[in-house]
Amino acid sequence: MVKVAILGYGTVGSGVFEVIKRNQHAIVNKIGEEIEVKYVLDLKDFEDDPVTEVLTGNFDEIVNDAEVKIVCETMGGVKPAYEFTKRALESGKSVCTSNKELVEKHGPELLRIAKANKCSYLFEASVGGGIPIIRPLRTSLAQEEILSITGILNGTTNYILTKMETEGLAFDDVLRRAQEKGYAERNPDADILGFDACRKIAILTSLAYGKNVDYADITTEGITAITDKDFAYAKKMGATIKLFAKSLKKDGRYYALVAPFVVMPENPLYAVNGVFNAILLNCNMGGETMYYGKGAGKLATASAVVADVLDCAKHIGKNLDTRWDEEKLAISPIDSAVRRFFVRVSGNDEAKIQEIFGEVELFNDVVEGECGFVTGEMTEEQYRRKAAEAGNVITMIRMD
Ligand code: HSE
Repeated sequence: MVKVAILGYGTVGSGVFEVIKRNQHAIVNKIGEEIEVKYVLDLKDFEDDPVTEVLTGNFDEIVNDAEVKIVCETMGGVKPAYEFTKRALESGKSVCTSNKELVEKHGPELLRIAKANKCSYLFEASVGGGIPIIRPLRTSLAQEEILSITGILNGTTNYILTKMETEGLAFDDVLRRAQEKGYAERNPDADILGFDACRKIAILTSLAYGKNVDYADITTEGITAITDKDFAYAKKMGATIKLFAKSLKKDGRYYALVAPFVVMPENPLYAVNGVFNAILLNCNMGGETMYYGKGAGKLATASAVVADVLDCAKHIGKNLDTRWDEEKLAISPIDSAVRRFFVRVSGNDEAKIQEIFGEVELFNDVVEGECGFVTGEMTEEQYRRKAAEAGNVITMIRMD
């Protein structure tokens, strides 16, 4: 019997409680012993909920109980999760978390503390909810050179873009409906401005290359400027528009970007719709692998936390090492990144477009009073100079 504690009985914490109870049979089959939740830390009351039997408001009770070997931190936020995580690790208890913010901010330090205390800090649920992606990076692909990571890492924005495409709705209308249905947060800024996806690609890139990526170094654009007109052009191209979080290693340099991209059906991420997330990895030996599933939600996220609990339960007294040094990974400015660009300009001066942008693929019958075109390959910096020279760019979306 392995005894665990859960910190926080919110959506994910109550999900962890449920997964451990409902799937006890599968758990015993896999690891040969039971997992028992000895404590749940929360300051609220939960009348008529079986959790009341194990509820405590006192973290000291948990950290001082030598029987508790594993702590699930499902509180979210940095305070007091950071202090509780540190104290649990320092007392030799492994910590399994879904807390993306804490992982992104203090991951390397907490991993170092875990190693020094012969326990583990695992965070499968912090990126992509129930999608196994941290463990593949940590173990299955440890032998690989990761060439690129492309993720649809935010369910809210993917849901909004999917609805805009399939129902021809405006951004604001879909967002309002998503909020009414509880799919989008009341304050959706972190999602729609791309910051949530940015933190997640920072974590994945840190794990891929073993050094710390500062999310502030990642150029981040959200989806608030995408309109039904952009989707009309995408349709004409046989494409769609997705918010991609990307990082890649090229000629010894590292690049990262979060932005909307025009995506063609050849890309397997084209078919990832609604609230679903997916991550496409390109490795130098095995080539492409893709990971798909629910990026959020109670049981999906909780299931990933419990997967980490089982890993820790099988390795009590040992450290499951995750290489993520405190040393900073230098992210190069995107200026020199080469790609094609989809551009909308006012008017219809084909000669001027070609004079400035060179040979382009033109779409001049989609929206009245303007035209759209796809450029040939050029650097981000070249594009910026040409756009400034043209002076009539309405919007630009990068081509994948
Ligand atoms: N708000 C996030 C999303 C889920 O919409 O994907 C938590 O990371």
